[in-house]
Amino acid sequence: MQVPPVFNPPPRRLLGPGPSDVAPSVLEAMSLPLVGHLDPVFVKMMEEIKAMQRAVMLTKNEMTFPVSGTGSAGMEFCCVNLIEPGDEVIIGVNGVFGTRMCDVAERCGAKVTKVESAWGTIITPEQIADALKKVSKPKFVAIVHAETSTGALTPVEEISKLAHAAGALMLLDCVTSLAGCPVRIDDWNVDAVYSGTQKCLSAPPGLSPVSLSPRAMEVATKRKTKVQSWYLDVNLLSAYWGQERVYHHTAPISMTYGLHEALRRVLLEGLENRWHRHEQNHLALKKGLAEIGLEIVSQAGHQLWQLNAVGVPAGVDELAVRKHLLTDYNIEIGAGLGPLKGKIWRIGLMGEASTKENVDAVLGALRKILKK
Ligand SMILES: Cc1ncc(COP(=O)(O)O)c(C=O)c1O
Repeated sequence: MQVPPVFNPPPRRLLGPGPSDVAPSVLEAMSLPLVGHLDPVFVKMMEEIKAMQRAVMLTKNEMTFPVSGTGSAGMEFCCVNLIEPGDEVIIGVNGVFGTRMCDVAERCGAKVTKVESAWGTIITPEQIADALKKVSKPKFVAIVHAETSTGALTPVEEISKLAHAAGALMLLDCVTSLAGCPVRIDDWNVDAVYSGTQKCLSAPPGLSPVSLSPRAMEVATKRKTKVQSWYLDVNLLSAYWGQERVYHHTAPISMTYGLHEALRRVLLEGLENRWHRHEQNHLALKKGLAEIGLEIVSQAGHQLWQLNAVGVPAGVDELAVRKHLLTDYNIEIGAGLGPLKGKIWRIGLMGEASTKENVDAVLGALRKILKK
């Protein structure tokens, strides 16, 4: 074959549903020379990652570390470790990722009760309370905190209280919420949580920060059946990420360097400052969109700061606009999925990409394209 030239990506602004832009220092960290995954230097860095991840998730959970794989691996990690065949679980479904979680849970042998809300709206405590009346022994209640497919942020605290009152664990998807808006794992009593590196943490995709409470760990360690995934079995992974350092699989070294630097950046900025920055840039975008006749269509009062679901005006070719943005302005935004296909654009302002300059750039470009 003719060997292609070296790949040279164009300088995009990543304003879609993820991945988001990555800081140069994260890319530099990822280009550092490799060390072995059991090298004491690497092991020390793993401990720093665990500590920083706890600080970002606002948890004291011992079992807090990044799973190798993207956010979906974190979803599978939580499900395979907590579910045994025949278990009942309750899952909130208000978009793509709740739907995906039901599929994952069913593949683990769970009997899934779906609590469904229209796409773009939240899951309410009342809906969960109703479902809990119908399910005799729920293993967990799960929701997607920030539904990236619709731009809705479901409040967690009340739902978590209901779950625990019914003797269930609380499972949370915080792939898009973590580091972009408040996520308080211990205050909200969340037992199992997973995230992704490529959203508001602003590292490339490839790791899934997870955390299990002591209660969730008890469930995972006292199972009657083997965890059906060898790769994601926390009983095996804990021997590598815990103090024993037993080889399980070869950690993705460069990704781990990248996450270390990304977490450092989050903590150096300060969680509250970072949340505030996301809020301010969301509000600036919303105001600018209104000025050009566009509006955010997810449920009022529950709109994500990091992912804006913008209604496509009647008569506008949504795909043509996105193509124009990419080819002429180097700006990537996302399309609608499922029932929202063709109806919304998804404008992400996540992590490093949540800047005033990006807000101005996307508004300026949209203004010109829509005028045409
Ligand atoms: C809320 C949510 N959950 C889960 C996922 C799955 O993550 P990944 O695509 O990294 O596997 C995503 C990805 O966009 C997401 O937004």
